Amino acid sequence: MITIYLDSASGGQHSLRVATGQSLMRAICDASDASDAGVDCIAADCGGVLSCATCHVVIADDWAPRLRPASTDELAMLAMTAEPASAGSRLSCQVQLDAGLDGLRLRLPACQY
Ligand code: FES
Repeated sequence: MITIYLDSASGGQHSLRVATGQSLMRAICDASDASDAGVDCIAADCGGVLSCATCHVVIADDWAPRLRPASTDELAMLAMTAEPASAGSRLSCQVQLDAGLDGLRLRLPACQY
């Protein structure tokens, strides 16, 4: 388990304990499904097969270089996000959580569609 820090689109700040070995998208979806977590939902319409760009997140500046680089396909999909992609933008279904990401900070964009 690791801790990630999420700023939601509605302004809430959350500290989430999440399992490694899964995508960042899955971890956020599971947290948003928890009835008392108060975490904004992430759309993730395609379920993580890199065909929707609705799992867009923005990784904090000091964390972005520590992630594996985005693939060519992910970069292409980042051109289709509802909120224009910025330097820290990633598709959360393509970010695999491991122990090295303990303390990861990110925010959800204002819109996913
Ligand atoms: S969930 Fe569709 S691209 Fe990530």
